[in-house]
Amino acid sequence: MSTIRRIAVLTSGGDAPGMNAAVRAVVRTSIHYNIEVFAVYRGYQGLIENDIVPFDARSVSQILQRGGTVIKTARSKEFMTKEGRQKAYEHLKQHEIDALVVIGGDGTFTGANILYKEFNFPIIGLPGTIDNDLFGTDYTIGFDTATNTVIEAVDKIRDTALSHNRLFFIEVMGRDSGFIAVTAGLASGALAIVVPEQEMTVEELTNRIIKAKDNRKTASIVIVAEGGKNGNAEVLSKKVLAQLPGYEARVTILGHIQRGGSPSTFDRNLASRLGVVAVESLLEGKKDCMVGMINNRIVHTGFETAISDKLKMDLDVLRVADILST
Ligand code: F6P
Repeated sequence: MSTIRRIAVLTSGGDAPGMNAAVRAVVRTSIHYNIEVFAVYRGYQGLIENDIVPFDARSVSQILQRGGTVIKTARSKEFMTKEGRQKAYEHLKQHEIDALVVIGGDGTFTGANILYKEFNFPIIGLPGTIDNDLFGTDYTIGFDTATNTVIEAVDKIRDTALSHNRLFFIEVMGRDSGFIAVTAGLASGALAIVVPEQEMTVEELTNRIIKAKDNRKTASIVIVAEGGKNGNAEVLSKKVLAQLPGYEARVTILGHIQRGGSPSTFDRNLASRLGVVAVESLLEGKKDCMVGMINNRIVHTGFETAISDKLKMDLDVLRVADILST
């Protein structure tokens, strides 16, 4: 028999499309198992400030299709301190909450792991970030929608690139990871994809652009992950243009449009399935781990592994994109 009677859910870090679907799933699954459920507003900061509200099935009506997170999110500096976490823990105890579901990315899980270790408090994580940079799941909630937003934008920019015979550098999000760049780059037919995981020198990129022109390409798109080794799209474009007198280029930084919008079918379903399992995992006594999906099967991965292992990127996708970009 589980001793869990009350569960709280929060979203933390950068918002991602599908977070609402995950919150809805956690709330309704808790109710299904006769567990009282609470929402913590504004992530860990809300825990510290006691912004904790009881939810029922209707509290999560009409949110499945909405982007962002209705229970808000934050990046809490105070939670990085021992005093902050102590306050957070006291508020959990005050509301007699027995377990927590946190939805977020690597920063969220780092915090969850420390809270668990300090207070032995049961926590399950759901991978909610557009970055897709967590080990232990093929996809994070929000990644699919974000990449679809990117290709829609790139397709539009391509119209201008073609009309003006221009070279475009398009910067996409992904902090220290190139998942969005690689996935959207292949899908949008980019000439080159620049990611932190694989070195591409300015010379290599320049040669590729020259070769494309020789091959009668009139418009070229270079997708640059924001964490690229040769600087962001702005910096990289300057370095390349210095080698290519007479070339005209434009830079577009897609920015936060990548985080917004209604979640795709894939993200809604991933969030819904993982949300149900998060609650069931807590009832089975699991803690200190993330619930993910690999090859369409549920997998539990310890927080430390989920955030520390960066081996996930399949660089073969870059090879495929290269072959097709000639
Ligand atoms: O982690 C999600 C993410 O969107 C990253 O891709 C990006 O680097 C970062 O958040 C931006 O954060 P903020 O919204 O705080 O500027």
